Amino acid sequence: MVVSLAVAAALLLLADSLCLGQSRDVILEPVKRSGAEAALVLIQDFQILPEQYLPLAKAVQNASNLTLWVGIPEFFVSDPAPSDIEEGVERIIASLRDAGMEGDNVAFAGHSLGGASLQRYLVGHSSRGFAQVLLGSFLQRKYRSIPYPIPTLTVGGELDGVCRVSRIMESYYHSIIHTPNHTVGIRDFPVVVVEGMSNMQFASGAIPQLTKDLDLRPEISYDEAHRKVGALVSAFLDLHAGDSHTLGFLSKAVMRSGQFLKPLLTAFELEGYHNFKPPCNDKPPNGSCTVGSSWSEQGVVAMGDLKEVIINDSDSFHPSLEFYPHDYLPHLNNSCSTPSSCTLEVFSVTENVYEELDNVIDSGFVPISAYEMRVKMVSRQVMMEAAGYRDVDFNTSDGYSVCKLINQAFYNWAIGNASNRTLQRYTKYGVPYVMGNDEGPYNIFPEWVYNPLQYKHTKTAGEDVIIVQSPTLRTPKDYFLKISAGFHFCKVLSPARVMEWMYVDSLRENYGMKNVL
Ligand SMILES: *[C@@H]1O[C@H](CO)[C@@H](O)[C@H](O)[C@H]1NC(C)=O
Ligand SMILES: *[C@@H]1O[C@H](CO)[C@@H](O)[C@H](O)[C@H]1NC(C)=O
Ligand SMILES: *[C@@H]1O[C@H](CO)[C@@H](O)[C@H](O)[C@H]1NC(C)=O
Ligand SMILES: *[C@@H]1O[C@H](CO)[C@@H](O)[C@H](O)[C@H]1NC(C)=O
Ligand SMILES: *[C@@H]1O[C@H](CO)[C@@H](O)[C@H](O)[C@H]1NC(C)=O
Ligand SMILES: *[C@@H]1O[C@H](CO)[C@@H](O)[C@H](O)[C@H]1NC(C)=O
Ligand SMILES: *[C@@H]1O[C@H](CO)[C@@H](O)[C@H](O)[C@H]1NC(C)=O
Ligand SMILES: *[C@@H]1O[C@H](CO)[C@@H](O)[C@H](O)[C@H]1NC(C)=O
Ligand SMILES: *[C@@H]1O[C@H](CO)[C@@H](O)[C@H](O)[C@H]1NC(C)=O
Repeated sequence: MVVSLAVAAALLLLADSLCLGQSRDVILEPVKRSGAEAALVLIQDFQILPEQYLPLAKAVQNASNLTLWVGIPEFFVSDPAPSDIEEGVERIIASLRDAGMEGDNVAFAGHSLGGASLQRYLVGHSSRGFAQVLLGSFLQRKYRSIPYPIPTLTVGGELDGVCRVSRIMESYYHSIIHTPNHTVGIRDFPVVVVEGMSNMQFASGAIPQLTKDLDLRPEISYDEAHRKVGALVSAFLDLHAGDSHTLGFLSKAVMRSGQFLKPLLTAFELEGYHNFKPPCNDKPPNGSCTVGSSWSEQGVVAMGDLKEVIINDSDSFHPSLEFYPHDYLPHLNNSCSTPSSCTLEVFSVTENVYEELDNVIDSGFVPISAYEMRVKMVSRQVMMEAAGYRDVDFNTSDGYSVCKLINQAFYNWAIGNASNRTLQRYTKYGVPYVMGNDEGPYNIFPEWVYNPLQYKHTKTAGEDVIIVQSPTLRTPKDYFLKISAGFHFCKVLSPARVMEWMYVDSLRENYGMKNVL
């Protein structure tokens, strides 16, 4: 008897916790009854409760011309796991119908992890909805090769530390810039960044631990964030429910975001970012792959550092462990009798190396830029002698931290090209990069490959800094090993990495959400 009572109590408890989800579902009735009837089903982020989305949901309803219902299902332990989405969606739609919703016009929105699960569900259930909105989330790379079946609005926050703004930039590149049809891109796959907004500001109230650890300090109020996102979401829903007069507002927002994202876009283009177009490597270039990095080409000019000589470098991407044939090695194809009016035709070889985790999970959590660019260049000595200087001493031409100078010049480029607000914020709160002396030389070739570009977090004069140090390989022209004579290799700091650092990662320590509360 006692035992069975205990079992019954345990079952009751279990049933209670299983039902908890449903009791926390949120249903909002329309606030106006003018336009067509529709519903927005919003998928929560991990550990953010449905009621925490009420301010945003109300802002969408207020701004929309639709007779708009909102349904927000609570998933088991507030975890919008991909396998649970269908059940939650069906349950909330049934509840919306019970409450009086008519018709079949359903749009979806998902916040952060909720957005990741939602897009996966909708790929297989595209007849379920007429539009999708990803909030602090984005269409993943795996859905890029075919047109996604449902129009999708992507909204990112400038100061989103969970879903980084650089990853939103990657979506912008594919949806808006390199789209087969610009008009369709803006109408069906707009991408917008809300300036000054953090990840948590899509919701409200208590901040879950993961968000607290990663997110950045917002520079607009929660009210302003909800109003801005509400206006964007409602414009997109109204548009795809048939009201084309909101298109102008949306396309203006998309264009403004393009201006905002420009420094990031430029830096990633210079790097030769692999998720824009893959490196050509051995394939014949045909416009769908990137031949080489124009950043490396500037690096070679800096390596030469010759005022009178024009250095024309052509870079190509190749895996750094591949040495043959000749094209895979840096080389020089001509020479001059005197430096004045000399143009050197130089060839360099680059491999960009990316974070393994970003290749495995396309989450926006980790930096997406190259953590190092392995750039193989001919030495300064080789360039000088080809330009007509005689008897150049290798120790003088190449025997110092040339990679450091290149990286310093590149860092200065990024500082000079970031937006003013970003630069001010970084200067005031960011942990700065400081260029340190080159490491090595590691002239036994694989050693140079396997020694990564160093980012050492240290304190100098009580201030946190990141010391950036490049392993180098450098060999004189008369090096005993002929095949690797006359080289100067650097692990180059990517401009995109510096931009991501300034826009996002440098801020976490002193300008994170965890410093606010
Ligand atoms: C509701 O919409 C009106 C006009 O569209 C706007 O002025 C107002 O600020 C909105 N209110 C809220 C709470 O979003
Ligand atoms: C709602 O519709 C009216 C009339 O079509 C239009 O003037 C107004 O701008 C619309 N409002 C929104 C928020 O789209
Ligand atoms: C782009 O798509 C629109 C709408 O489908 C169409 O009218 C237009 O002709 C297309 N433009 C190009 C360049 O294909
Ligand atoms: C370019 O080449 C790749 C294979 O190397 C091929 O898949 C692609 O279709 C080609 N693109 C064009 C536009 O020819
Ligand atoms: C630089 O080199 C490339 C490839 O060898 C060539 O096509 C280009 O015309 C050269 N540019 C200048 C300014 O010499
Ligand atoms: C270097 O020059 C040779 C001879 O002029 C030419 O055949 C070769 O294609 C050039 N290499 C490159 C990479 O341009
Ligand atoms: C190379 O130059 C440095 C100073 O720049 C000097 O200390 C060193 O002795 C030189 N080494 C050789 C082998 O000449
Ligand atoms: C910004 O970028 C442009 C183009 O790459 C470059 O010419 C310019 O020097 C950069 N600005 C600064 C201040 O570095
Ligand atoms: C950034 O600031 C500089 C000087 O402080 C100013 O000249 C420039 O116009 C500003 N740029 C923008 C885009 O506001």
